[in-house]
Amino acid sequence: MSSLERKSHWDRIYKTKGPSEVSWYKDHLETSLRIVKKLGVDSSARIIDVGGGTSSFALDLIKEGFKNITVLDISPVALSIAKSIFGLDADKIVWVEGDVTCVNLPKDWYDIWHDRALFHFLLDPKERRSYVRVMENCLKKGAYAIIATFAIDGPPKCSGLDVIRYTPYTLQNELGEGFKLIESVGEKHITPWGTEQRFIYCCFKKL
Ligand SMILES: C[S@@+](CC[C@H](N)C(=O)[O-])C[C@H]1O[C@@H](n2cnc3c(N)ncnc32)[C@H](O)[C@@H]1O
Repeated sequence: MSSLERKSHWDRIYKTKGPSEVSWYKDHLETSLRIVKKLGVDSSARIIDVGGGTSSFALDLIKEGFKNITVLDISPVALSIAKSIFGLDADKIVWVEGDVTCVNLPKDWYDIWHDRALFHFLLDPKERRSYVRVMENCLKKGAYAIIATFAIDGPPKCSGLDVIRYTPYTLQNELGEGFKLIESVGEKHITPWGTEQRFIYCCFKKL
């Protein structure tokens, strides 16, 4: 799928469904927030939420006192909805519209990379390699990458698109030797219509 096709797919989704009507909706990303807090980074840490969509994660980080938050998404529609939900707090966040597989991000800049339910859409190995290159380039040495995907017993599709399901081991293989898995935790996500989706959250350290 090209960047343009992806952008129009996601724009269409966000134009036709409210933020709490999408399968991946959660009031708060508790598992991600718990992992971030456990890492014990300073409130000045630079955190980027890739494929952040309309999730409350960035706002929750601001409420926790974090000062340097960036949200990146391919869908300008998602970003403008998120900004209107966040209200005045939206001004405390850096918003980037772009495709994570080819976006230009500053080198050695971020302390934490967060991705819930984006990586699993990358079906082409070349796209996954580009994603890892972008991530590796913009993270500082010793920084962390928290990546949540559908687990191996999760659904095969999301938002009408095929996904790849991962174990911590297969995700580690995708990231390669530049990253070391330090924690993984499963989650049973309940969609707004009551079905269960199994996720795996993995936290890696950039070596
Ligand atoms: C399933 S949603 C997850 C949203 C959010 N992370 C959450 O957990 O609520 C996937 C998000 O990734 C974005 N996305 C998909 N492919 C992308 C890409 N190549 N680059 C940047 N964002 C992308 C979509 O627009 C969408 O907001």
